[in-house]
Amino acid sequence: MVREVLGFLPLHGGGIIVDGTLGTGGHSLAILQHSPAPARLIGFDRDPESLEFARQRLQPFSDRITLAQGEFGEITAVLAGLGVSTVDFILLDLGFSSFQLASPGRGFSFQRLDPLDLRMNRREGAPLKDWLARAGETEIAGVLREYGEERWAGRISRALIQARTEGRLNDTQDLVQAVYRAVPPRFLEKRLHPATRTFQALRILINDELRQLERFLEQFLELLTIGGRVCLIAYHSLEDRLIKRAFRNLEQGRAPFDDSLPGPLAVEPAGPKVFRRLVKKPVLPGAEEVLLNPRARAAKLRVGQRLGTG
Ligand SMILES: C[S@@+](CC[C@H](N)C(=O)[O-])C[C@H]1O[C@@H](n2cnc3c(N)ncnc32)[C@H](O)[C@@H]1O
Repeated sequence: MVREVLGFLPLHGGGIIVDGTLGTGGHSLAILQHSPAPARLIGFDRDPESLEFARQRLQPFSDRITLAQGEFGEITAVLAGLGVSTVDFILLDLGFSSFQLASPGRGFSFQRLDPLDLRMNRREGAPLKDWLARAGETEIAGVLREYGEERWAGRISRALIQARTEGRLNDTQDLVQAVYRAVPPRFLEKRLHPATRTFQALRILINDELRQLERFLEQFLELLTIGGRVCLIAYHSLEDRLIKRAFRNLEQGRAPFDDSLPGPLAVEPAGPKVFRRLVKKPVLPGAEEVLLNPRARAAKLRVGQRLGTG
């Protein structure tokens, strides 16, 4: 979605651009090439390993970039730490990267033999194996259902508990085998690996991904200059639904997660319109991009803009 994002960059050529999911710096590199000085870019990621990679890659632009390790759920604090309180453009390209997927030892891929970790920042929090060692059957099923929208959540959860009891839940392939044992053979899909939803659910849990996004959606508007824009790319419906809901509420002058209907006695009018969606329907990737990168097929880009307060 790089080309689509570039189309929404500030037109005046200056300003501060934030990439809050720097990854290996692909979007940031294109943004820097596309927006000449004096535009500056602040890039951050919660994953120190990705950050190091991006730092090397963006070296030619070192005089126009500031890179930091941090979470977009704490964006206000991350920027304040850099002495910045308002910015002109914010990009979040959510989820995990191909770099993380391919990195040995991290546990993101069901096609690799890796430890059960799944943390985006391996210096913080506890790995998946700790949670799997103590979670109960109902808790596991709830996570698979809620974060993975997994139809076979109950059966998979039972298979995981059984594998744990038998000492067969020690790495990513043990996890995959438990899923295979749980899903009835006639429901094994050809298009989607049966462990896809389980891995997604557990990744969202371990990295508290939805809470991070909610916290970001509560903060970003205050950080944007008037006319400033936000581009958010989601890869699954749980994220996209949160963004859609927050954008709609903000556009109606409400707090991002205030869905209350105005009652007959309501005296408070909705606030002034300070936000508008720049596209009503999400922008989807082109066929060419999906061909080159099948992981992009689920991407949905939503874009909004801060308006004046009058
Ligand atoms: C899809 S990748 C971004 C790829 C990037 N646009 C590029 O071109 O290389 C998502 C990135 O977001 C990071 N990430 C996920 N949640 C985050 C959070 N709450 N705060 C900061 N970074 C986060 C991941 O570590 C990962 O590197």
